[in-house]
Amino acid sequence: MENVVRESDPTNNVPDAIFSKLGLQLHRRDNHPIGILKNAIYDYFDESHGGKFVKFDDLCPIVDVKKNFDDVLVPDDHVSRSYNDTYYVDASTVLRCHTSAHQADLLRSGHTHFLVTGDVYRRDSIDSTHYPVFHQMEGVRVFSPDEWLASGVDATSYAAMDLKKTLEGLAQHLFGIFHKSDHCAVDMRWVDTYFPFTSPSFELEIYFQEKWMEVLGCGVTEQAILKRSGKIDNVAWAFGLGLERLAMVLFEIPDIRLFWSTDQRFTSQFSEGKLGAKFKPFSKFPPCYKDMSFWISDSFTENNLCEVVRGIAGDLVEEVSLIDNFTNKKGQTSHCYRIAYRSMERSLTDEEINQLQWNVRETVQNKLNVILR
Ligand code: DAH
Repeated sequence: MENVVRESDPTNNVPDAIFSKLGLQLHRRDNHPIGILKNAIYDYFDESHGGKFVKFDDLCPIVDVKKNFDDVLVPDDHVSRSYNDTYYVDASTVLRCHTSAHQADLLRSGHTHFLVTGDVYRRDSIDSTHYPVFHQMEGVRVFSPDEWLASGVDATSYAAMDLKKTLEGLAQHLFGIFHKSDHCAVDMRWVDTYFPFTSPSFELEIYFQEKWMEVLGCGVTEQAILKRSGKIDNVAWAFGLGLERLAMVLFEIPDIRLFWSTDQRFTSQFSEGKLGAKFKPFSKFPPCYKDMSFWISDSFTENNLCEVVRGIAGDLVEEVSLIDNFTNKKGQTSHCYRIAYRSMERSLTDEEINQLQWNVRETVQNKLNVILR
């Protein structure tokens, strides 16, 4: 892959820390929470659909812009296409930001029932449920007219009903096991939303860490996608599910960085390769908070700030949050960010954190065109 990613290309915004995640394929490890969850979802689809779903989990995450965006009807001016949101390898190649990047190709090659699992990449903010690399599973199912004609409802409603029924069944399959323990059942809700590739579109949210957390997006596939793939008389549903977020709820994993831990005390807890394991924290290490304030310029973005912080502190940064924001009479805008440093594996020394923070301050000032206050 080395010769694919040209670091010297001015349009390349893939830092080394991200580059080094390519090929790790947590989703193909049977004793990792992500792999265990993938296998459990496979089991559900095998049982409910008699093995009809074809599975892909080894498609290259480096895709052309056309696949990632155009093929799934993402408009030219959509924010997700920006360098601020997506990792570009060069002007026409990205690290896929969703597994939807493979939908159109697979439809075109004739598949009607499929699951695509893989690592996806997004520039984003930093907190316990966001990490620039995570894993998704995409599911697509195509129906032919005989399937909905007998039902008496229109094609779109038929697909939407089947979609919700299928995903609710999946939740039952995954969390049914959960209900038998002394934990309360998970709270879930459907929310109407917008995606360029589906209409209608829905999100499934689960209540976790005192907030509603989005775990999947789905909907009835836009006809334009099906028609271009040669499916002129069909209707289809599709979903894209975030594996980390579901796994956090299922295995009680409190922070998304843990999925990347190579610490035996983490990895050994999933050696049975089955659902039902609950993560036991090794011990609670305290977080350490550092604030920094600066005057921003027009080009400032929080994603760029987070990239700088992550570049220096790596997985020692737990959260970056804006805690104060004001504009003075001269029109200058000040932001104050609080950075939480915490290791999942050990306690950090004051000296180590001060050094990191010092480094962050210097780099932020040099690279982000801001003025520290
Ligand atoms: N690609 C969407 C995302 O990353 C998730 C998604 C939504 C996938 C709707 C789909 C879909 O296939 O139909 O957030």
